[in-house]
Amino acid sequence: MITAVFLTHTAAPSGAELATLRLLTALERGGSVRASMLLTEDGPLVALLRARGIPVTVWRNDFDSRSLTISGSGPLGLLRGAADLVRLGRGLGAAVAEAGADVVVAQSTKALLMGAIAARRAGVPMVWQVHDRISGEYFGGPLAFGLRVLGWSAARGVVANSRATLGTLLTRRRPHTVAYPGLEPGPAIEREAQRAPDEVRIVMVGRLTSWKGQDVLLRAVALLRHRPMTVRLVGGTFFDEQDYRAELERLAAELAVPVEFTGHLGDPGPEFARADIAVHCSVTAEPFGQVVVEAMRAGCAVVAADAGGPTEIVRTEHDGLLVAPGDVAALAAALDRLIADPELRTRLGESARARAADFGIEATAASVTALLDTVVRGRAPVSDPDSAASR
Ligand code: GLC
Repeated sequence: MITAVFLTHTAAPSGAELATLRLLTALERGGSVRASMLLTEDGPLVALLRARGIPVTVWRNDFDSRSLTISGSGPLGLLRGAADLVRLGRGLGAAVAEAGADVVVAQSTKALLMGAIAARRAGVPMVWQVHDRISGEYFGGPLAFGLRVLGWSAARGVVANSRATLGTLLTRRRPHTVAYPGLEPGPAIEREAQRAPDEVRIVMVGRLTSWKGQDVLLRAVALLRHRPMTVRLVGGTFFDEQDYRAELERLAAELAVPVEFTGHLGDPGPEFARADIAVHCSVTAEPFGQVVVEAMRAGCAVVAADAGGPTEIVRTEHDGLLVAPGDVAALAAALDRLIADPELRTRLGESARARAADFGIEATAASVTALLDTVVRGRAPVSDPDSAASR
């Protein structure tokens, strides 16, 4: 049995944290890893973990992780933030030791820095579970480079949420694996037949933030030959993203696109079940894109951005359509084609249901367990045929 402490800096229920919640639940069921969560902030994730009986420790501190942002902090601010994280990491070392951990699993870039110090203090290895592409697009070139080097030197192993994410990391001589954030098994989702062209409902699920590209969808809808009945934007603003929401409201009014905002929903499943078409249109490459799999599982006709994780999920024309990211006209063309053709939507949606079954949380847990085993027991690296083929 391996005892693993999963470390994160945020308790917001956004994609990476929800993936971790499902993973810890599956590890618990699997019985080979005793997993607990260590957070440096209190918030909704804490209650979600507790509700599933997963041991949680909130390490109280006075560091406001939100004040440290890539775009807002400037070089000096980043350095000061890094110093704060190092200081926090020292304290966390005690919590890791107390938990009797064999390994620390860092869940974010901030956790990477804190975890590096904490793991060293506790005398255990650290694994970096990477949910973001460590690229210049997100972090700016210099910071991305610094994070890659830090990750390589501080982590004894790497888990990436897609081949796209893995491809942004340095992995030489480090055991590594791709563990797609799988979904939990559940009953088949019931849905009505695909609606006629004039009645089509479109949904997009995701945090309201500019790189997720909700504005691209609104602009595309404004170009459509068949206007859909409604466009539902499902998603919260967790990290100071309220301005973007206001911008979307303005844009929708200006373009006269019928939009409904639901805010964050714990379970977007029913939204997908009620929609005919689900859109994903992140403008920078999505690291994985759990909402794409959730939409497919619900049998939606899916349009997703042709970059990053979604290209590992959707086989275009077979179980969805892929469209160049940020290309408003191409998205509009794909939507017009789908809206006009309920049979195409039905066929794609049915294949999508089958494809979604390839992304289960048990497989995620198995990959993570194997990697942790390699790192903790120093076994030969697990071979990962998928990632070997892509490198
Ligand atoms: C992050 C990524 C998202 C991925 C999730 C789970 O939120 O942005 O693409 O699905 O982590 O790993």
